[in-house]
Amino acid sequence: QYVLYGDQIIKRDQASIDMEDRGYNFGDGIYEVVYIYGGKPFSMEEHFKRFAESAAKLEMKLPYTLETIIDLTVKLIDANKIHNGIVYIQMTRGASPRNHLFDRESSCLITGFARKMDPPVQAQENGVKTYLTEDIRWLRCDIKSLNLLGNTMAKRKAADHGCHEALQHREGTCTEGSSSNLFIIKNGTLYTHPATNLILNGITRQHILTIANEENVDVTEQAFTTDDLLEADEVFISSTTMEIAPVIAVTGDKKGTYPIGPITRFLQKKLKEKIN
Ligand code: PDD
Repeated sequence: QYVLYGDQIIKRDQASIDMEDRGYNFGDGIYEVVYIYGGKPFSMEEHFKRFAESAAKLEMKLPYTLETIIDLTVKLIDANKIHNGIVYIQMTRGASPRNHLFDRESSCLITGFARKMDPPVQAQENGVKTYLTEDIRWLRCDIKSLNLLGNTMAKRKAADHGCHEALQHREGTCTEGSSSNLFIIKNGTLYTHPATNLILNGITRQHILTIANEENVDVTEQAFTTDDLLEADEVFISSTTMEIAPVIAVTGDKKGTYPIGPITRFLQKKLKEKIN
């Protein structure tokens, strides 16, 4: 297995991370996950545009141009001969004597790996159960940062209740999943939380909004409550790794069940067409 380390593709067992890498000590870094379909990364440009935006928000300097980072990512995919799978690229603020104060001029370290993974067809076909819980994360969820404890704790809680994903809410306003965006459909209108500091503006989310506009599905980027969630006609989640997965049940802070509806199926189909 090969990994990306700086601008080199090396064997995984030859890579080493410093004890005082800021990513390791502080979670001081960012990442992206890109899906590879039939050897081709999907929406790579969009992912790396967001990568650059996350870096800018944290005042991290990219060590190479975006084009170089994309080239290196393609090399990483090829070296690992990935047909279907994911490529994970992260950037930390690099190694320096541990100190909360960061230096804007730090040389950042980019690393990455790629892994075979089949699309989760089971979840896409049959839907997933979800666990509704309080959103305990920080106020910059728009940054795709390595700090994911709020997310991982929510996911653990969901799994402990036999659910595939956690849905999070801030005092009754639904935000997003622990690693996905959340949509509901009510009376033919698609709702999702606006792309504010409270959610990650998913690349899949953006594709869905574009498709909805192209296909004349009524759509509004408007926050909705946990009661709206319960009363929704259809619910689904989206992410790079899931694409669109219908939500068939919510448990936790509120409880409800949903059929897999026609608009969810339609958007799933249109997204697949975009991918292929
Ligand atoms: N997670 N919201 C959160 C909190 C996420 O972590 C993700 C993706 C999304 C969906 O974004 P996108 O459509 O760009 O994948 C929304 C990735 C897949 C992960 O951490 O593995």
